[in-house]
Amino acid sequence: METRSFLTLEDASREDLREVLDLARAFAEGRFVDSLENKTVCLAFFEASTRTAVSFELAARRSGAHVISLSEKGSAIAKGESLIDTVVTLDRLGVDAIVLRHQAAGAAALASRHTSAPVINAGDGCGQHPTQALLDLYALSDAMGGFEGLQGRRVAVVGDVLHSRVARSVIPGFLQAGMEVALVAPLTLLPPDAESLGLPVLSSVDEALEWGADVLYMLRLQRERMAGALIPSVAEYARFYGVSRRHLESGALAMHPGPVNRGVEISGDVVLDASSLIPDQVAAGVCVRSAVLALSTGAAHRVAA
Ligand code: NCD
Repeated sequence: METRSFLTLEDASREDLREVLDLARAFAEGRFVDSLENKTVCLAFFEASTRTAVSFELAARRSGAHVISLSEKGSAIAKGESLIDTVVTLDRLGVDAIVLRHQAAGAAALASRHTSAPVINAGDGCGQHPTQALLDLYALSDAMGGFEGLQGRRVAVVGDVLHSRVARSVIPGFLQAGMEVALVAPLTLLPPDAESLGLPVLSSVDEALEWGADVLYMLRLQRERMAGALIPSVAEYARFYGVSRRHLESGALAMHPGPVNRGVEISGDVVLDASSLIPDQVAAGVCVRSAVLALSTGAAHRVAA
């Protein structure tokens, strides 16, 4: 049975994206069940998570898998065991898939070289977060009349691009979906190679709306990953890069991967507003991650056959 890891969205094709989204739809509509019967999925979360961890667990359990959860506290990692030794141990114990969240960029790719089980990157430091981007594309496709409806639409990715693994996954995802992407951030929160991406860089949410943004995709200000003072103050940041109700009057949709700093990236009263896709993004997590688990373990082919 063919298995495959999900490590990055950087080299995903349009067809790859469509394959996951179509299968996710089949899961959402109940056309695909128990695909992981007799499989064991290990959820190895060595960094904090609510949405990603819970939705992976629901996805695995609803697909009929046995689920093992591992965190830093309570595993041998707390005794100094290396990531590689941990992965080799899981491999020898016979797990069928490893869902890994880790604070170091590249951790999932490294892990995948030490196990024959597929590794699904659930977020690696400032690296990648492919399933977040996939569920974002799912929720946005729903709001825009399907995947084809994304073609030519404009999305502004707003905020802390520098520290964001989500940005590194959603930007290639949006581009493959045929969307136009602009970055909206202070220069101190942009990666040094931002220019090489060839994307317009704008300096406020108002400018993004003038550019014609259909979607404002906010990123969390990741203060735990900031080494120094990259913004003058949170209030100053919120003034130029925070989204409030008036920004959504044009019909633009608001997205955010969560967790949200209310009043910083987005004002509290619009998080659950009709123009906010944030609850839909969360809801899409289960069917999209069910699809990713089925594809990575080869179960999708088995059930479809
Ligand atoms: C993100 C993450 O942890 O990468 N959240 C998520 O998975 N929904 C974004 C963040 O932490 O800002």
